Amino acid sequence: MKPTTTEPLFSGSGPGPQTADGCSVELYRDLPYRGELQALSPWLGAGTRVLELGCGPGRLTRPLLAQGCSVVAVDNSAEMLTHLPLRAQAMHAGIETLTLAERFDVVLLAAGLIHMPAAETRHAFAACAARHLRPGGLWLVQVHDADWLARVTPGRVTGDEGDDKDLVLWVYHVERTQGQVAMTLRYARADGRQWTHYFRIQPLDEPALRQLAREAGFQDIDWVDASRRWLRCEMP
Ligand SMILES: C[S@@+](CC[C@H](N)C(=O)[O-])C[C@H]1O[C@@H](n2cnc3c(N)ncnc32)[C@H](O)[C@@H]1O
Repeated sequence: MKPTTTEPLFSGSGPGPQTADGCSVELYRDLPYRGELQALSPWLGAGTRVLELGCGPGRLTRPLLAQGCSVVAVDNSAEMLTHLPLRAQAMHAGIETLTLAERFDVVLLAAGLIHMPAAETRHAFAACAARHLRPGGLWLVQVHDADWLARVTPGRVTGDEGDDKDLVLWVYHVERTQGQVAMTLRYARADGRQWTHYFRIQPLDEPALRQLAREAGFQDIDWVDASRRWLRCEMP
């Protein structure tokens, strides 16, 4: 059952509001932090000024603040931003057009947002990072697991719910078309609430990621971790 949609790139269903990219606010509000930022700890110390793009309800904002970073947290969903911790500076804006006077030590783009299906959106995200970094600042980008994207098939996702035993996740539908991967995820809470999230992903190999970064003015890309989930791009 693919959710009915008038928007071909993203949609969502279930209790509570959904964002333009199909994320359900109630679902994301309660998702636990899974240590995703650990690999980035050398660059996220006390006093680091972080611009977090696509922050959602603050799942990653909280650990950033706990590490002593100051955070400007950006999202185009007002509903998501209402859940941000008060110590973060919430910014209701689209990443594509965001233009702040401040320059940051780190711009963070997590959750595979760099895989947006439209090329102009990916370029606009990279340009946003570049125009908000100080010289020598870092754009830290979380990419999707390339092997998983290549082989994912419908079925229950085991192991992902580990620290959130109340939540079950299924990959409900997968379609590969024109070099992109479209899928529907279905989430169910033990209390009966269920959500779906339909989205499209553009897989990006290393040359494509390098080109994206270079076109935005970054010199090169470096993998942060052996599992190649985080990229580090330094502003000259
Ligand atoms: C998958 S959620 C991730 C939230 C959070 N980073 C996390 O890891 O839990 C993606 C978030 O990015 C936001 N988003 C997507 N596209 C955006 C855009 N163009 N401008 C601003 N926010 C955007 C959505 O509203 C949503 O809250």
